[in-house]
Amino acid sequence: MHIIRTVKEMHAFSSSMLGTGKKLVLVPTMGFLHEGHLSLMRIGKEHGDVLVVSIFVNPAQFGPGEDFEQYPRDFERDMKLVASVGGDCIFAPDAHEMYPDGYQTTITVDRITRHLCGITRPHHFEGVTTVVAKLFNCTKPHAAVFGEKDFQQLMVIKRMVLDCNYDIEIIPGPIVREPDGLAMSSRNTYLTPEQRSSALSLSRALFTVKERFDAGERDAERLIAVARDMIFSEKHTRIDYIKICAVDTLEDVAAISGDAVMALAVYVGTTRLIDNIVLTAA
Ligand code: PAF
Repeated sequence: MHIIRTVKEMHAFSSSMLGTGKKLVLVPTMGFLHEGHLSLMRIGKEHGDVLVVSIFVNPAQFGPGEDFEQYPRDFERDMKLVASVGGDCIFAPDAHEMYPDGYQTTITVDRITRHLCGITRPHHFEGVTTVVAKLFNCTKPHAAVFGEKDFQQLMVIKRMVLDCNYDIEIIPGPIVREPDGLAMSSRNTYLTPEQRSSALSLSRALFTVKERFDAGERDAERLIAVARDMIFSEKHTRIDYIKICAVDTLEDVAAISGDAVMALAVYVGTTRLIDNIVLTAA
């Protein structure tokens, strides 16, 4: 497996692979890998010949007072995990490599970033789209895999790819959950056992909402109230948002008629967790 630290080497590696007609797939990550990431890598393997995994904790997508410094990192462990699923290359640049001196260019996706996480994390998506565009430019993939857990991120990246005319297929990867329902996240490591138990209310609320939806409930306010009550009744929880919105625009819907998603962000203690469930009529 190749470990690449510089943009120049990454360009050379990708160009040599593309020159031999190989199809390259990128799985962008911030490291501290878990089964959710590994499932994205397995999907990536199915869609191409060369699997590149980027590991970069991107300072530009963290706001002031957020957990950039604290974000868990373990490169040795990550290397073993990428190798275990047959990864071909890890691209792990440092911040200076990605953001050279005098850097002043950003990529902004407009309307779709103003909803959900964009309200409480106003610069987050600009940081994400900027780094993902740069990772695309460095690795030159045919396809890239993004998890559905970060539903808004996936939609924002799809929009950016369309708007910027990238010739890259964006492949969604389903949410991977712990056996008790908690959506896998590197941030779960911040939770105390008691907080972790409260955090289970997020997935329980989403599954209950899905049951009510499947039983015919279409009123968004009533479905949101169900989720809010279940989560609010747990210790340590503070709701950032619970919304039901259209899957493509992420605009709120009052009565669900087309494909919608319930998306939520909840602080459990000081850890902000996100989760979602798609509500599609059978
Ligand atoms: O989802 C993530 O881990 C990050 O937002 C990403 C896509 C790797 C960009 O830094």
